[in-house]
Amino acid sequence: MKILLLGSGAREHALARALSRDPETTELVVAPGNPGTAQIATNLFIDPNSPDEVVTLAREMGADLVVVGPEAPLVAGVADALRQADIAVFGPSKAAARLEGSKAFAKEVMASAHVPTASARIVTSPDQLEQALDEFGAPYVVKEDGLAAGKGVVVTSDRDAALKHGLACLEREGGAVVVEDYLDGPEASVFCVCDGRTVRALSPAQDFKRIGDGDAGPNTGGMGSYTPLPWAPDDLGQQVIEQVAQPVVDEMARRGTPFIGLLYCGLALTSKGMRVVEFNVRFGDPETQAVLARLDSSLPQLLHAAAVGHLDQVAEPRWSDKAAVDVVISAAGYPSTPTTGDVITGIEQAEADPDVHVLHAGTARNDDNELVTAGGRVLSVVALGEDVAAARAKAYAAVSKIKFDGAYHRSDIAAPAYVER
Ligand code: GLY
Repeated sequence: MKILLLGSGAREHALARALSRDPETTELVVAPGNPGTAQIATNLFIDPNSPDEVVTLAREMGADLVVVGPEAPLVAGVADALRQADIAVFGPSKAAARLEGSKAFAKEVMASAHVPTASARIVTSPDQLEQALDEFGAPYVVKEDGLAAGKGVVVTSDRDAALKHGLACLEREGGAVVVEDYLDGPEASVFCVCDGRTVRALSPAQDFKRIGDGDAGPNTGGMGSYTPLPWAPDDLGQQVIEQVAQPVVDEMARRGTPFIGLLYCGLALTSKGMRVVEFNVRFGDPETQAVLARLDSSLPQLLHAAAVGHLDQVAEPRWSDKAAVDVVISAAGYPSTPTTGDVITGIEQAEADPDVHVLHAGTARNDDNELVTAGGRVLSVVALGEDVAAARAKAYAAVSKIKFDGAYHRSDIAAPAYVER
């Protein structure tokens, strides 16, 4: 199978690794990719958000499957253009991608499909915003109604901070804000592979969104993850299919906008039962790095079957008995103003342990062909172990071998306090 993968982060490096290791894959092109994907695939520099450029490249290479990593190409209509050109694509149409792009749309679909979610108000004026904050009370959950790459959400007990974030969102053109109930249980991410009708759940994971230990500081794109979740029910994946993903997939099909791709179900497992916190329409970052480390069955087969509507003919994904932990190393100044250009060393030493692999995100080659930092989240260090504690110990041992000026990581990813609930 010839595969074109779009994107350039650690999530895409994880996808590229899983795709390239499978004998089904005969050719793998990543566009634009990163220095990590360059080691296992062919990187080609095109604009992944341009439907024309993507269709042209897919045609030129005779791609049997295009896998879309980030949400931006989906919102730009790349999957629609590929389907029109009769090219199999794993990723939803622009219309179906609204499940991530518009929180209000997602809420409306969930209401129609009777999916349990936090109650919420959509507000479009400062007065409504103040009213909603007072109605729900602290802690406040204020979300921008639009694409914010996971960074448009503020959760705070400080009413002034909640109001400030809400007002800033309203000031943007066409601004709308969603104010929600606070959910009391731990969060889980369950990725559901969908072909428009059939749904398969992947191994549940948890991510760590805040920059600091103990979940302190601002939200980031994600500082680490682990899977499976020892504290969650064994049948969590099945519960998510039954209560969330299948009803949403059925509702999207009923509306004539079938969901084909990855429905990322961000959940809170509350004292009142499962609640959807958010949907994303693509693999999550950094959960994907840990989830795919445990996948023992064929990723190309699974994604191709979803793309062509034959998911019911593919067996359930198989998982390693081991646990996986992913620790993100970020650059100094992240998430506001990360420094770049610092030389990175120690990846080979970190990977000396066969249970460890290092995935690239914000890296580049300088004029001397040295690996340097080039973004906020620089690397994802992924380790497998007999259980979460063993995987965690291996991940942190590997992290300690990687050096660059200002390197930062959380020291409590998958710590017992989170895992032994
Ligand atoms: N893990 C959060 C996200 O992918 O948006």
